[in-house]
Amino acid sequence: MKAIEFFSGIGGFNQAARRCGIETVAAFDQDLAANQVYEINYGLKPSCRNLDSIAAEEIPDADFWWMSPPCAPYTIRGARRDEKDTRAKSLLHLMALIDRRKPKIIAVENVVGFGDSIVLKRLKEEMAYQGYDSSEMLLCPTQFGIPMRRPRLFVYAIREGYGRVVRYPQPVPNANELTRLSDVLMSLPTEILKVDESDIERYGAVLNIIDPFEPGQRAICFTSGYGKCWKASGSLLRMKDGTVRRFAPVEILRLLGFPDDFCLPENLNLTKLLKLIGNSLEVRSVLFVLKAIKDNLLNVSD
Ligand SMILES: C[S@@+](CC[C@H](N)C(=O)[O-])C[C@H]1O[C@@H](n2cnc3c(N)ncnc32)[C@H](O)[C@@H]1O
Repeated sequence: MKAIEFFSGIGGFNQAARRCGIETVAAFDQDLAANQVYEINYGLKPSCRNLDSIAAEEIPDADFWWMSPPCAPYTIRGARRDEKDTRAKSLLHLMALIDRRKPKIIAVENVVGFGDSIVLKRLKEEMAYQGYDSSEMLLCPTQFGIPMRRPRLFVYAIREGYGRVVRYPQPVPNANELTRLSDVLMSLPTEILKVDESDIERYGAVLNIIDPFEPGQRAICFTSGYGKCWKASGSLLRMKDGTVRRFAPVEILRLLGFPDDFCLPENLNLTKLLKLIGNSLEVRSVLFVLKAIKDNLLNVSD
């Protein structure tokens, strides 16, 4: 099965897709640094294209469209402007191209607030009109035993004749496979990650500082603002010596299900890396969705 990853970022979809026999044949993202990370890890150069205006002819043939559009239109921080937010335009535009390119499968990932948006309502109407059968799942890595919250909505649809979407049971964590936060920590030079005492005093009330050695601790969702803003952008670690530090990019990648040999280019600074990683997908959740889709497919050759 051949897929296109729209809004590809650092390739959370490709990371999961290759583990279940789906080949990503094209990727699109307007961020050059994200595309650099993507290319060195997957050997595929994403097209640096603004998707607000892509033409149907520029989209290669593929069975599967995966889309992870910007979440700001559906978040409180982004003022929940929904279809009026210019950042929703690219998804609305791609939606209008479904009729022209007719992929067999469509999947869209976004924040929980996307669930009751006008954009999603329009997407569902368009897909139903075009003969797609759709379903959705709300998944959080905690359901896979991962000590990090990142609830995300996954909407997926299969075109008439290629399968029926049946409701899929929610995953439950396997008690024997729970990851502890301390398991993902690495011994690293952490000076650059350290949070100043003055910042802790000043922003203490909004900081989420956790002890990774305390059983059952979970990190809150890491966002693209983790490297530069304090409020609700991700957890900080209280280390054994009492100092407080950020999670390192590689540690967040581990929580997100990326392998330890995932490459991060040296020319990208910490803030940029944290931004890219904070935007990414949680790989186990994507794998779960892909499995649900594959289980529902008929007559589609792998
Ligand atoms: C939520 S992130 C998705 C990240 C990706 N799923 C991953 O695994 O890293 C949204 C991505 O869409 C890109 N993007 C936003 N608006 C875009 C547009 N109009 N055209 C192309 N790319 C866009 C951003 O650069 C960002 O990388």
